Amino acid sequence: MTTPSTAAGHRAAPDAADAADAPETADSGGLRLLDVTLTLGDGDTAVTALDHVELAVAPGEFTAVVGPSGSGKSSLLAVAGGLQRPTSGTVRVAGTELTALSDKERTAARRRHIGFVFQQSNLLASLTVREQLLLPAHIDGRLDAAARARADELIEAVGLAHRAGSRPHQLSGGERQRAGLARALMTSPAVLLVDEPTSALDRVRSAEAVRLLAEQTHERGTATVMVTHDTAIMDAADRVYEMVDGRLS
Ligand SMILES: Nc1ncnc2c1ncn2[C@@H]1O[C@H](COP(=O)(O)OP(=O)(O)OP(=O)(O)O)[C@@H](O)[C@H]1O
Ligand SMILES: [Mg+2]
Repeated sequence: MTTPSTAAGHRAAPDAADAADAPETADSGGLRLLDVTLTLGDGDTAVTALDHVELAVAPGEFTAVVGPSGSGKSSLLAVAGGLQRPTSGTVRVAGTELTALSDKERTAARRRHIGFVFQQSNLLASLTVREQLLLPAHIDGRLDAAARARADELIEAVGLAHRAGSRPHQLSGGERQRAGLARALMTSPAVLLVDEPTSALDRVRSAEAVRLLAEQTHERGTATVMVTHDTAIMDAADRVYEMVDGRLS
């Protein structure tokens, strides 16, 4: 359905199912967490991973979250992306209230609207870098020239053109991290959640990766949340939040 001039998966060229969505407005787009609390474990070992969190990230806004280890940053991304249901509160993504959906509906909404870059890159062992990027389009029957062009463009942008045919075990940790980033950008998700995207990268590669993230966020109107410890790359963010003991400020 896409033409070569249309980037595959770009939200300007929505698939048929998207037509049922409410029109995107500043109010309905992006990411919104309202009074979200997440308690993990129970009894004496219960941990309040998220404590009455409020967060609003507009389409096209690049947000960074910093904070000590164990403060709840990955938990925040898991709940924002519908991987984990909060104990209480509301999560809204691209106008869809994730917390009101069944598990099955939430999985579908996640696939459609959300991109993740995990702390561990989660690549599929049997696929090459290029195949990792093309897999979602392949599954959805949208593997066309535009999808291939977008994949090659992103592989080039993260400096992996010479590794496009390599499988994860043939890549360094930093190369795997860059492949994971390229894969998440492939579908131009409405909301992009990125956990420590530069932990395995040197300074030059970190700066490049963050420049790419910022550029894609602004160009494609993505609501991006990036967890980082790297003070150098925080400067690229439009807004920086701090997480301490499950509280966001
Ligand atoms: N399944 C679980 N059961 C109980 N507590 C958990 C569970 N998973 C995480 N926690 C706790 O929740 C808190 C938040 O963890 P989280 O992974 O969100 O931290 P983080 O800020 O991402 O840390 P890091 O910077 O080390 O990745 C921590 O105290 C952690 O020990
Ligand atoms: Mg974490």
